Amino acid sequence: MSDWTHRHVLDLAAFSLSDFATVLELAQRFRAMPTSGARKLPALQGRLVTTLFFEPSTRTRSSFELAARRLSADVVSFTPGSSSLSKGESLLDTVRTYVAMGAELLVVRHRATAVPQQLAEALDAAGESVAVLNGGDGLHSHPSQGLLDLFTLARHFAPDAPAPEALRGRRIVIVGDVLHSRVARSNLWALTACGAEVVLCGPPTLVPEAFADFVAAPPPGQARDPVTARGLVRIERDLDTALAGADAVMTLRLQQERMQQNLLTSLDGYHRRYGLTHGRLAACGRPVPVLHPGPVNRGVEMSGALLDDPAVSLVEEQVRNGIPIRMALLYLLQSSLNPSSKRP
Ligand code: NCD
Repeated sequence: MSDWTHRHVLDLAAFSLSDFATVLELAQRFRAMPTSGARKLPALQGRLVTTLFFEPSTRTRSSFELAARRLSADVVSFTPGSSSLSKGESLLDTVRTYVAMGAELLVVRHRATAVPQQLAEALDAAGESVAVLNGGDGLHSHPSQGLLDLFTLARHFAPDAPAPEALRGRRIVIVGDVLHSRVARSNLWALTACGAEVVLCGPPTLVPEAFADFVAAPPPGQARDPVTARGLVRIERDLDTALAGADAVMTLRLQQERMQQNLLTSLDGYHRRYGLTHGRLAACGRPVPVLHPGPVNRGVEMSGALLDDPAVSLVEEQVRNGIPIRMALLYLLQSSLNPSSKRP
């Protein structure tokens, strides 16, 4: 179908334009499938998908599990609190336990950067036929969220053909806590790969100047950028200026649990300067959609009225699109696994 070669999905910095196109095309097909009646595809029959979330999650974990079930996989979820981790078992040994039970597709979330990458390397080195999907690692990367945001935007601009080209030349504003957001980082790789211009907006404590160069070079450990011409990234401190001429706006949760020090004087003050409301959006000069990866602090990064307004808010649409995007990822990764399941 394409030149897809990834054996794991760890970071969108490694995705070519054709990889993005492949995922969006598959997701569009899966999205068109009925969700009731004969709702299951047999693609992952006999395969075991395990979700290992060492950090809380509502959307990502449930939609990976639903996606796996819609492809007929068996699903086991690991819950750290009730596991042998609390008895001192190492993380790799925990993961190997699931692999010994036949898990072939592992979705991993961890508060520390690079844990999914390290697990993938260790399992590859041990010769295991296992695919690792990063469900969010530290402040680093959240590839399935970046892809579902891209899909949601592409469907908004081109409902019948939501391909990467739908983003070319669009101006997407990302406002808020970029510093602590792995979602923003994955979106930067995805949106610029598709030729969108990204405007980052927030105070210097949450949007440091260095983000202007975020996609200028591939991350350490990656030899080259698979994308030849990326869209530009710029930083704008004033929200009204950032919004002028925007095609879409994404706002991010203030991740106070990750803040090492108090980076804000007050939540009220933050909302006044950077919070999205219907009134604030007038600065765009035309109707534009608003996205948020969730969970939302109502009345902080966006007003409750805006969040609940289906004419503007794509937040529920993002959640819905998470399932076909994760189906596409599981589908693509299972093609590189050993054909015969080695499950006992
Ligand atoms: C995000 C995450 O966990 O990185 N949420 C999500 O997966 N939808 C963003 C957040 O926690 O604010």
